[in-house]
Amino acid sequence: MTGDVLSIRELSCDFLTVEGIVYAVNAVSLNIRRGEIHGLVGESGCGKSVGARAVLGLLDRKRCRIKGSAVFDGKNLLDLPERDMRDIRGRRISMIFQDPQNSLSPLETAGMQIGEAAANHRNFPQGERGRLVASLLERAGLHPDTAQRYPFELSGGMQQRVMIAQAVSCNPELLIADEPTTALDVTIQAQVLNLLKTLREELSLSVLLITHNFAVVAEVCDRVSVMYSGFIAETAEAGELIRFPAHPYSRALIKCIPRGRAESGAGPLPVIPGFPPRLYERPRGCPFVPRCPRAGSACAERPGPLDLGGGHVVFCHYPEYASAFSPEAP
Ligand SMILES: Nc1ncnc2c1ncn2[C@@H]1O[C@H](COP(=O)(O)OP(=O)(O)O)[C@@H](O)[C@H]1O
Ligand SMILES: [Mg+2]
Repeated sequence: MTGDVLSIRELSCDFLTVEGIVYAVNAVSLNIRRGEIHGLVGESGCGKSVGARAVLGLLDRKRCRIKGSAVFDGKNLLDLPERDMRDIRGRRISMIFQDPQNSLSPLETAGMQIGEAAANHRNFPQGERGRLVASLLERAGLHPDTAQRYPFELSGGMQQRVMIAQAVSCNPELLIADEPTTALDVTIQAQVLNLLKTLREELSLSVLLITHNFAVVAEVCDRVSVMYSGFIAETAEAGELIRFPAHPYSRALIKCIPRGRAESGAGPLPVIPGFPPRLYERPRGCPFVPRCPRAGSACAERPGPLDLGGGHVVFCHYPEYASAFSPEAP
C-alpha cells in the first residue's frame, strides 16, 4: 500500500495554565508516508513531544485545547473516544520514549515486559509467549537470554533495544520514536538507529523519528520536517534539505552539525544567536524573526507554505536557494 499512514492537518495545542496560555503547537501539518522514516527536528521546547502526545491522545483535554486533525486509517484520532484510541495506541501506533529507565518497570524482567505488551494486543497461547519474546529480542539484536534479566542489569543501549522490541511486538504500522537515542553515547546511538532502519525494512514500518539532532536525521531519515517554536519551518527529502536548506533556521541548525570538524580544523561550532521565544504569545509574524539574519519587512506577516517542488516546502518570505556547503554561503 502506498500513500500516507498518518496525515496531520493544522494541529494546534494550547495549554491553559495559571500563568497564561502556552501555545505549544501551532497549525502544524505533516504527512507520514507509508514505509518512510520521517524526522521531526527542532530545538528543545519547540513542541515536538507535545505534538506526538496529542496525536496519541495522551494529553489532558481539560488542560490542553487541541485543534486540527490527525487522520489514521480514515479516522481522525483527535475525535476518537478513548475506548477506540486504546485499540490503536500500542497496537497499530506504538511509541518509544527518550528515557528507558523511566519507561521500563524495574521490577519485571525484560521478557515479562515484552511478552505482556504483546499479549495485551494479540491473542496467542501462553506457551507461545516465550518463543515470541525470544524472536523479538533476536530481531532487536539481543541474546534470547536477555529475557531473564532485569532492566538494571542491562546497559542503556540494551534497555533501549528492549523498549524497541516491546514497541514492535504487536506489528504496529507506525512507530513514533521520541528522542530514542538522546541518552546514548554516539556509537550505541548509531547501532540503535541502524536497528530502526532494519526493522522498517523487515516489518514494513513507518517511523516518525523525533530528535533535536540533525546528525540523526542525516543518518536515517527519508524526509524531514523542521520545527521552530511550535511551527513547521520547512519539510523536504532529508538529503535535499541538508544540502539546500531554504529556511534560515534549518540552515543554522545544519551548520551546527559537528561532523568531521575536529579533523578539518574548522574551528569552533557556530551557534544560533538569541533564544527561542517564550510560548505565551502566538506571534503574528514569523517566530524566527528575532534571530534571523535575513528578516525583512514582509516577516511581520506569518509566511504561508512556499512550494519549491519535489515535496520541498518552506515557510519563509526570504528563502535561501544556495547550497549550505558552498564557500560563499552565509
Ligand atoms: N503540561 C504542560 N503544561 C504547560 N506547558 C507545557 C506542558 N507540556 C509541555 N509544555 C510546554 O510546551 C512546549 C513544548 O514542549 P515539548 O513538546 O515537550 O518540547 P520538545 O520539542 O522539546 O519535545 C514547552 O514550552 C513546554 O514547556
Ligand atoms: Mg521532547
